[in-house]
Formats: sequence, C-alpha cells, structure tokens
Amino acid sequence: MNDIDFALVEGKRPPIYTAMKYWGKKPHNIWREYIENYTPEDGIYLDPFSGSAISCFEALKANRKAIAFDLNPLTSFIIEVYSSKFEVEKFKVEVGKIIDKIKKDKTFLKYYSTNSRKTKGLAIVQSFKWQDNELYELGVNYTDSEILDETNGKPGNRKFRYIAEPNEKDQKLAKDQSKIRINTWFPDEPFVNSPSFSANFISCIGGNNFSNLWTKRNLYVLSKIFDLIKKVNDKDIQIQLLFGFIQTLHLTTKMSVPRREGANRPFSTSWGRSAYICASRKMEMNPIFVFEGSCLGKQSVESCLSGLEEYLGKIPKTLKVSESLKSKNRLTGFDLKYGAVDINTITDYIPENSVDFIMTDPPYGGLVQYLDLSSLWLNWLKNLDSKYAPNYDAEITLKNGIIDINLYQQRFTNALKNLRKVLKDNGKIVFTFHNKEIPIWNAFLKSISLAGFKIEKVIHQQNRRTGESNVANPYGTSGTDFYIRCIKSPNVKLKTEQDEFEYFVINKAIEILALRNEPTPFLFLFNGLLTAISSEGFDLEDFDENVKQILDKNIGKVFELTENSSTQTGKFWWFINPSEHIKYPDRHLTERVEESIISLLRRRTSITLDDALAVIFKKYPNGLTPDVKSITSVLQKYAKMSGGRWLYNTLELEKDFTKHTEIIYKLIGIGKKLKYKSFVGKREQPEPIKNKKLSDFCDFTSLNNHIENETARKRIEMIDLIWMKDEKFNVVIEVENSTNFTSGIQRASNLPNDILKIMIIPDHREKELNRISDPLFKDSFKSHNWKYILYTDIDKILKSKVSMKTIRLFSKELN
Ligand SMILES: C[S@@+](CC[C@H](N)C(=O)[O-])C[C@H]1O[C@@H](n2cnc3c(N)ncnc32)[C@H](O)[C@@H]1O
Repeated sequence: MNDIDFALVEGKRPPIYTAMKYWGKKPHNIWREYIENYTPEDGIYLDPFSGSAISCFEALKANRKAIAFDLNPLTSFIIEVYSSKFEVEKFKVEVGKIIDKIKKDKTFLKYYSTNSRKTKGLAIVQSFKWQDNELYELGVNYTDSEILDETNGKPGNRKFRYIAEPNEKDQKLAKDQSKIRINTWFPDEPFVNSPSFSANFISCIGGNNFSNLWTKRNLYVLSKIFDLIKKVNDKDIQIQLLFGFIQTLHLTTKMSVPRREGANRPFSTSWGRSAYICASRKMEMNPIFVFEGSCLGKQSVESCLSGLEEYLGKIPKTLKVSESLKSKNRLTGFDLKYGAVDINTITDYIPENSVDFIMTDPPYGGLVQYLDLSSLWLNWLKNLDSKYAPNYDAEITLKNGIIDINLYQQRFTNALKNLRKVLKDNGKIVFTFHNKEIPIWNAFLKSISLAGFKIEKVIHQQNRRTGESNVANPYGTSGTDFYIRCIKSPNVKLKTEQDEFEYFVINKAIEILALRNEPTPFLFLFNGLLTAISSEGFDLEDFDENVKQILDKNIGKVFELTENSSTQTGKFWWFINPSEHIKYPDRHLTERVEESIISLLRRRTSITLDDALAVIFKKYPNGLTPDVKSITSVLQKYAKMSGGRWLYNTLELEKDFTKHTEIIYKLIGIGKKLKYKSFVGKREQPEPIKNKKLSDFCDFTSLNNHIENETARKRIEMIDLIWMKDEKFNVVIEVENSTNFTSGIQRASNLPNDILKIMIIPDHREKELNRISDPLFKDSFKSHNWKYILYTDIDKILKSKVSMKTIRLFSKELN
C-alpha cells in the first residue's frame, strides 16, 4: 500500500447524495479513494461521526464492511431509508394519493388559491414573499390553475409559472391564516435551551414554540401530510415518504429567504445558512409543491433511491445496534453496521483492536450545531418513533455558556482515546479538520496527541464545494480542509518551548514564501503553516502568542505587507529583503503553475478542469497549492472550452516552442563540434524535432551522477542546455525565445561564476534585454559570468569553423 500524500480532486456528487440536506458533506470520491487505499478488502472501516453517512456508502461501493455511527439519530434514519426496498411505481402512487388528498382539502384550497391572472378561475399559489411582515409577491403555478379552473377535464401538461402582485383577497387570507385550526399532530413544544435559539430569534419568529417556525397555513398542510404518511401501512414506502417530508420541512419554514434578483430563480429558496435565522424577507413556500419536488424528479427521493442499487452494487445488509442488543459488538453478518451511538460509548459496540481504518470528519468546535439544526426534522420524526429523539447532552461541540473549550477538548480527547482502542495497532486514522480559530486547532491537535496518536502526514485539500470549513473561511474563496493522517503512538513528546515555536513559525513562513517566490495572501501562508505546525507535534496551548501575532511582530523586520488589488484576499505578505531568504531563486509560483498547465495542455490537447487540478495538487502541495480560480484563469488563457473540456488553442505558443527547440538542437550540434557532451533540460527533452525527441540527440538526460543534492539538482536540470567535458560543466545555455530573462539567470545562479553562461535571444529582443534597468538583474548578469548571443549569430557560428574562440567572439556583454 502506498500512502496518499497529496490532495485529490473532488468529483461531481452522484444523485444518491444530493437529496438529503446535511452540513459538511464530504467529497465522496476522495473519501472512497482513502477507504480503498487504507482498508484491506476483507477489512472494516469506521466513521464514528458519519453525519449523512456518505463515507460509509462509499465504503460499501468500494466493497468494504463499514460501521457508521453518529450521535444524531438522523444518520440512522438516512441509512434506513437507503436500505429500504424501493419500488418506484408504488412510491409514485402513494405520493400522488397524498398530494390529491391535500389538493382537495377545503382549508388548503382556501388559503393557497388566488384569482388566476391568466384565466377567470382560481389558481394555486406556489410561494408567497414577505418583507417586514407585508406580503409583496406571489408565485403562481399555471398548470394547477388550469386544474382548478377546469370544466372540460383536460388540464394539459403545460407548466407555466408567473409572478403576481398580491390583491386584497390575498392579503386578507395571509392575515386570516392565524385563525386556522389544526386537528392533526404537529410538534408543539418550546425550542431547546441553546444559544442556537437566541431571544432575538425567538421574538422575531413569533414566540418560544417550535411550531412557530412555520406559518399557520404551512403548518396545517405539513401536519396533514405527516398524518397521511403515518397511515401508510407499507413500512418501506412510509420511510421513503418521510424522507421526502423532512426535505420539505426546512424549505417551508419562515427561515427561507427569497433568492437574490440576479439569481433568476424567483420560485425557489433554500435554508441558506447553518443556523436558525429570522430575516426581514421571507419566502413562504407551499408545502405540497415542495413535497412533490422532494419526492419526485431531480434531487429527490426518486432520483436518489432509483440509482442506489446500481451505484452501490447492492442493497446493503444492515445491522442496527442499540443499547439493549446483546450482540451489539458483533463484527460479522453485515455490510453496514449503524446506530445512534455517542462516540464515548463506542467500545460497547466495537471490539478492541478490530477496525482497520478510520476516516472521519469530527465536529469543528461549535461551527455547526448539528443536533440543534437537526431538531427541525427530528422533532417530527420522534412522534413516529422515540428513537429519533436526540441526546443533546452528549454532543461534542462548543456552546456559549453550556460547553466551553475545555469541556469540548476533554470530550474530544476521550472520543479519540476510544478510537485508538478500537483501531488495530497497524491501522491508520485520517481526520478532516479546519477551523480558522487557533484555540480550536490547539484543542484539536492536543487531543490527537493526548489520545496517543502521532501525526504522520497533513495534507491541505481544497474542496470545490461550499463545506463547513467554508463557513469559517473569512475570505469566502474556495473551501479547504486539512486531512490529518495519524498512526498509533505510545509516547508522543510535546514541544513546549515558546521560543522554539516562534522560531519554527517564522522559519516555516519564510520557507513557504521563498518556495512560492511571490507576494502571497495571508490565507495561503496560514494554511501552509498549519499543515507544518500540526505535523511537528507542537503543543500550542501553552503559547500565549498565536501564529498571526508571531508573524505580525515580524512585519517590518522580516516581512512587509504590500497592496493586493483583490479585496477578497487581503494584503500580500512578502520579504523586506527577498534575496536574504531565497537561496535557490525559482520562478514565481504563478509562473510555475502556468507552465505545468501549459505542459499538460500540450501533452493531452484536451483536458478537464479536474485533470488540471489533479496535476497541480500533486505537484504543489500544502503551502504551495494555488487557488482553484487561478487555475481556471490559466485555462482560459491557453485553451477554449468545448463540450465540457478545455481544448488547447494557442498556435502562437506552439511557434515559440518550435523555435526554442530548433535553437537548442542547433546548439547541441555546435557543442558536438566543440567535443562537448550535452545535457538538455528536463522540460525540453520531450520536445519534437526531426521526427524524434530532443532527448534523442543529447548525451545526458539526468544529472544524477553529477549533483548529489536533490533540490539543487532539480533546479539545474531545468536549465535548457549544458555543455560538459570530463563530467564537468563548462558552458550553461538558456534560450529565451519569449520568456522572462530572469528565470534562466535564477536557475543557474548557484553554479560557480567561472562557468561561462550564455543567453541566446532572438535579435528583436536585444534592445529589450539591454533596457532592463533593475540593478539586481544587471549585477547578477555580470557577476555570474553571463553573456548573450543573437539567433542570427548562431547560424553564423554554425557555418564557421567552430571553436570556443568563435563563441567568445559572438558573445556580448550587457550595455
Ligand atoms: C462534521 S459532522 C460530519 C459530517 C459528515 N462528514 C458528512 O459527510 O455528512 C460531525 C458529526 O459529529 C456528530 N457528533 C457530535 N457529537 C458526537 C458524539 N458525541 N458522538 C457521535 N457523534 C457526534 C454530529 O452529529 C455530526 O453529524
């Protein structure tokens, strides 16, 4: 087994994961790759914080046995839905029956109809928009207006929707809905005592009762739907209907906000933030439409469950555990073992030393209050079965005034100790984690150490989609996670010296900036530092200075902040004196990334964004990873989008490459006449010439036998051409057809000054070269023994009786 030591590329989420809302869903394909890699074929994978259970379904897809636990009973609910028997036609019939019944209900007809603005009859309202408790817009569904208005019994299939201004009758009904009497069950209970439900929220939403989350008419319809579902006898269909119902619940609350004008989606809404919110603009969605959409069509129960068996390759054999079950720690006879289990009791359910691999996404401090948020669904589900009542007290989270950082850490450490017990001695565990708050990171890292794990590798993984970490990311650019791979370790020593830590932080920051070799936004520096600090095993808690403060103290000494025209990422961090820190100057990271993408485009001519990301993530890990957006802009520059792929399209650039190759080829020839052996740069070796590759014409394709130090060797192997005699470097040559003059100089800057270095340039660039006024450039050119020769002079040299004297004759100094 090879370890996964670089970031992977997130794929498109399949329909089985799009129907259910949950916060912090993880990139399914990346997790599957980890599970496949680290769990042997007959092994057991565990996710103790499995949330929407994506990880465990991916384990099943990878043909591994999985254990999916979570304190949240919703996880068990999802698993039960996914392992139910799905018969699409039967399901559709039941959905239809419920919708028909409600559509004939008098109260429903009264409160959701309006005078059609297209015909003379009545139409059903799909959504009502409110601003400061005033109704200001209706969304009307036209097909249904035809149904209501129908006299000839043929509604037709047209689905038109339109926006209308509310009339007096609409306004009156909206106000009168408070008079509706509901005689079916609904959750009539106060909000739980938690900062999630602030006094402000409670007052704005209409008082301390859970049912106030919905308008009265919506509550009426929801309660009717729920009642009808409870009466369905077939348990499989019942749970599938409930799945559609709970997706309806959050989209029909008063917390739904109309989308922005620009979004051009006037008929839909979402529960946009992972919190209980009460905004002045609200969208009151008709539950019957939402229910229909949640059950049938795209991103619905239907699309999710129809493809499930094919996606997983089977309907999983499940084993549900509970406190009273005798065989609860059995490890045979199931594909998927699950249950609402507090991680602190996990050893009751899993034997010690039995799990091969754990990959999990623990709660990040108090960023998302999972149980509070889920109560929106659970408070209904628990009426059907008390097993859906959550145990709020055991949640690992931070809660103002209820659970502080110490308690969080204590619970978390205990949790990890339990994981250590159930993990096999040679097993590995991967945590995904991100939080901008240093104390939360400290708590997290400390728990890892205290629980007896040793960090083996930290990988900075950019996610494409908004995730929990994105909520915490103040710059709102792409979401990122850290993948922290650990192994069991009996004695981990924590480093506690403040000075040592400061020294480490500053030096790592310098190293990252030097490697990037360009002014860098703090976020990238910070992400790079976090991976480094975490792997180093520092106990951050004893340090009163956090990373930002340490770095801030060095502004004006080591670093300076420079303007960044992008307002999103803040000022750039850079060195006051770059040459002091950049020992092996390379090109700017942006240029290197650009070059890697060009090279991929040239090799493959047509690529997807994912192909580009895979190459870049692997080549530029952690502190070097560029923003996904910058990769797209490079693609836009050199390729055209067609049919979902990027097609390489710069003829100009190709001409450049051809010329560059042609000149190097000629120079190899000149070298031969001079009895030199040639080494051609790694990048140039595959370039085509005379129906062969450049590498076919040179004597050396690697410098393994010439330079021991790997970093130095890799840089020198990027030089276009080196002439050698008796294994010694005699002449270094860079051909600058169109590229920046400085990069060649940088690559050779660490070679001794007595080696002759020649830059070959097109005649038309001579003025440009001599106009460079940067004193640093001029100095290095002279002091490192650089000369330049023009393209036309190369032809003259070729025609002459070549000797080093001729070369010297044509070599020029800078003005
Ligand atoms: C970040 S989420 C995981 C989300 C998951 N990765 C997904 O793809 O949906 C963390 C989970 O930890 C669970 N949790 C919190 N405290 C717990 C405890 N004491 N025992 C088990 N699970 C707990 C929460 O219910 C939540 O689902």
